[in-house]
Amino acid sequence: MSKDPKDMNRQELKNMEYTSVPEVPIGTVPPLGVLPEKMHAWVIREERFGEPMQSFKQELMDIPDIGPNEALVLVLAAGVNYNGVWAGRGKPVSVLGVTGEDFHIAGSDASGIVWKVGENVKHWRPGDEVVLHCNQSCDTFCGQCAGYDPMMCQSQKIWGYETAYGSFAQFTKVQAQQLLHKPKRLSWEEAASYGLTYFTVFRMLVDRGNLQPGEKVLVWGAAGGLGVFAVQLIKKMGAESVGVVNSDEKGELIMKLGAKGYINRNDYPNLQWKDDATPEEAKARFNDWKKFGKEFQAKMEINRGPDVVFEHVGKVTFPLSVWMLRRFGRVVICGATSGYDLNFDVRHLWMHQKSIIGSHFCNGEQAARANELIISGQIDPVMTKRFTWDEIPDAHDLVAKNLHFGKFSCLVSAPAFDMKTTDEARNGKKAA
Ligand SMILES: NC(=O)c1ccc[n+]([C@@H]2O[C@H](COP(=O)([O-])OP(=O)(O)OC[C@H]3O[C@@H](n4cnc5c(N)ncnc54)[C@H](OP(=O)(O)O)[C@@H]3O)[C@@H](O)[C@H]2O)c1
Ligand SMILES: [Zn+2]
Repeated sequence: MSKDPKDMNRQELKNMEYTSVPEVPIGTVPPLGVLPEKMHAWVIREERFGEPMQSFKQELMDIPDIGPNEALVLVLAAGVNYNGVWAGRGKPVSVLGVTGEDFHIAGSDASGIVWKVGENVKHWRPGDEVVLHCNQSCDTFCGQCAGYDPMMCQSQKIWGYETAYGSFAQFTKVQAQQLLHKPKRLSWEEAASYGLTYFTVFRMLVDRGNLQPGEKVLVWGAAGGLGVFAVQLIKKMGAESVGVVNSDEKGELIMKLGAKGYINRNDYPNLQWKDDATPEEAKARFNDWKKFGKEFQAKMEINRGPDVVFEHVGKVTFPLSVWMLRRFGRVVICGATSGYDLNFDVRHLWMHQKSIIGSHFCNGEQAARANELIISGQIDPVMTKRFTWDEIPDAHDLVAKNLHFGKFSCLVSAPAFDMKTTDEARNGKKAA
């Protein structure tokens, strides 16, 4: 009989032999070394494109092969992101056109156990407990990857969005450079909840935005997936935030996370940009902008606009973001929930020498640095609701309808909530 994986050294783990079984039930952690032929997955296909309750369907799929620099990970829990909604809609772009596959397994956040590693993988072994960052690049040491920043690589992709094997399945295939240590203090579902949005925020504020101590930041969607981390990190960096939300309940949440104040956008019914506004509507909008700017200044206790605006809403807020910045201020933007064709008065940009800075996810080094702050308890996940495997479409439905705040997370192979280790998940109960 072959050796028990518990008694294997790291080299033996890498070269272990796998026993094939047809499948394992969802919500179970098989013994290391058992490899099913098929896996349970929530799958998006072209004929089902639409809102999440329609686009996500359970199927039994083949387990993907891995390349020399890759790892197969048993997913214990998976985090929900807006990109699962985009993928299911197939609009404005179809992810199938990007991956070249006829199926898509969404999910760009996961916690799990490394199950198998490719021959070039040096630092990780089957059995390691991990979370994942979602940036993939060429993996061939191109000049950008090897000498500058993998985010510059021509082949840069977001795993689980621009690749077909995301986290809403028992197994996922990733590049080994995506593996990060799972924070031991967190349950599997908490550990799966934060990566994509928090790591994006880290690059936006620390690297691209170059945020400085004492700076004043306006954060749109401050109780959303990005916002809850922006508010925490801004405080950690010695700067201050006023967050925008659509309810006082969300406002109270962000105050607890360290915001200096919050603005309820329901108090500004005319604030949002519309390309075809009538002169009366444009006038009402500008009045709301002025009032909104005054409220920001009052909450921040300053007499000027923000140094930085944290943007991802896009179309309806961007013209205001540019307008309200102080001279030399910068908008850092990573998304456009309300539309990407932006229309704004560029005179405010050049006359007051403002900057627009695009930012997209982050590289592996930034993700690892950001993850250390979670491991050490200096930044916390904000998981406001957790779901079972069967409820994965419902979780996406709430996100699509903006009926959520913070982050949602779903069980995959973890049998129950609150399990923190491999043994707890395998035994289905917490250690005494
Ligand atoms: N490039 C990247 O790497 C990257 C990474 C992560 C996310 N993103 C993108 O960034 C966007 C936000 O992601 P997220 O995870 O933070 O989403 P989220 O959890 O849905 O939060 C977005 C927040 O935006 C606010 N919002 C929505 N519509 C708005 C409107 N019309 N006007 C003002 N505020 C509005 C909402 O806050 P209130 O209703 O409370 O105001 C909501 O909580 C998405 O489009 C996502 O695809 C990009
Ligand atoms: Zn490259």
